[in-house]
Amino acid sequence: MKIAIINGPNLNLLGKREPEVYGHVSFDDYLQELRHRFPDVAIEYFQSNVEGELVNKIQEYGFGTDGIILNAAAYTHTSVALADAIAAVPARVVEVHISNVMAREEFRKTSFLSAKCVGSISGLGLQGYELALRYLLAGQ
Ligand code: DQA
Repeated sequence: MKIAIINGPNLNLLGKREPEVYGHVSFDDYLQELRHRFPDVAIEYFQSNVEGELVNKIQEYGFGTDGIILNAAAYTHTSVALADAIAAVPARVVEVHISNVMAREEFRKTSFLSAKCVGSISGLGLQGYELALRYLLAGQ
């Protein structure tokens, strides 16, 4: 089983970035823990601050893995290109947000991606990634 996690802009700063919103744990540390917890799953990981690079990875992993866990961060609220990429690939894509986007600014309540994803998890912290992973594993 091969699952990909794709993180969008500014998520490379997790642990340092607005810790009151996103927590104190870096994604590298969390990923290490996740891989340790799921030793039988090949978890690919990609992060970029560049929209086109995220499109390229959705295309690549979308044909090469059993599912994608996508936190497109701010591009969630703006990107037709990412929505089209999700729609273009056969892999199931789960949208994840660490913070509860529905409880924040108005512009965060719009997702260009949700309708193209199998489902969305928002506001459950880093645990959202594990829950999305469990969903993808259960559905194989
Ligand atoms: C985020 C929420 C987005 O609105 C924001 O732009 C992010 C992170 C989250 O994980 O809570 O960068 O996707």
